[in-house]
Amino acid sequence: MNPVRHIACRADNEGIAVATTGKMALIRGRFLWNMSPLRPEMERFMQFRVLAAATALLSVMAMPAFAEGDPVKGAKVFKKCKACHVVEEEKNRVGPHLVGIIDRPVASVDGFKYSKAMIEFGADGKVWDVETLTIYLKKPKDLIKKTSMAFAGLKKDADIENVVVYLQDPSAAE
Ligand code: HEC
Repeated sequence: MNPVRHIACRADNEGIAVATTGKMALIRGRFLWNMSPLRPEMERFMQFRVLAAATALLSVMAMPAFAEGDPVKGAKVFKKCKACHVVEEEKNRVGPHLVGIIDRPVASVDGFKYSKAMIEFGADGKVWDVETLTIYLKKPKDLIKKTSMAFAGLKKDADIENVVVYLQDPSAAE
């Protein structure tokens, strides 16, 4: 067998990117190709397809709302919130439950007694998007001076990133 005459090249490349821009977008790419020097026109066609897929993936990754982070590390960070918050069921403790908190309207849990400051903050229809949540968790009282959330904040940006990713999908940490 002469390996030069017929090169069978198989590459498997699976890319998954999850991005949030209000709604979840899931992009999954799988390329599989066979290159043979005998069929150059086929080879060109495949190169084009791989390039197109890579471009699509890159443009998703470049979205500003793309949250990177590690949900397992985020679950550990969430221990700091657990004294007051539940995320796995709609149960209020000292603080409101955090089920579906990403993009949830501010101060919107029925039956939870929010501070006046939090109600005012959400009065114009604000939601807890990744950006607002990131600012809040850094130093809650910097964003909402009179919030009743007695929590100093998370100093490390990586902790915030990770806990936000965890809150987005707590099952990802299992
Ligand atoms: C000592 C208790 C306590 C801790 C610890 C705490 N929170 Fe809170 N949290 C509260 C309270 C109370 C509120 C309601 C604040 C208000 O009404 O001003 C709140 C509100 C919030 C809100 C707004 C919810 C809504 O429905 O608008 C978010 C988001 C939030 N907390 C996330 C977190 C995260 C994430 C952590 C951990 C990094 C954390 N909190 C730690 C008590 C706490």
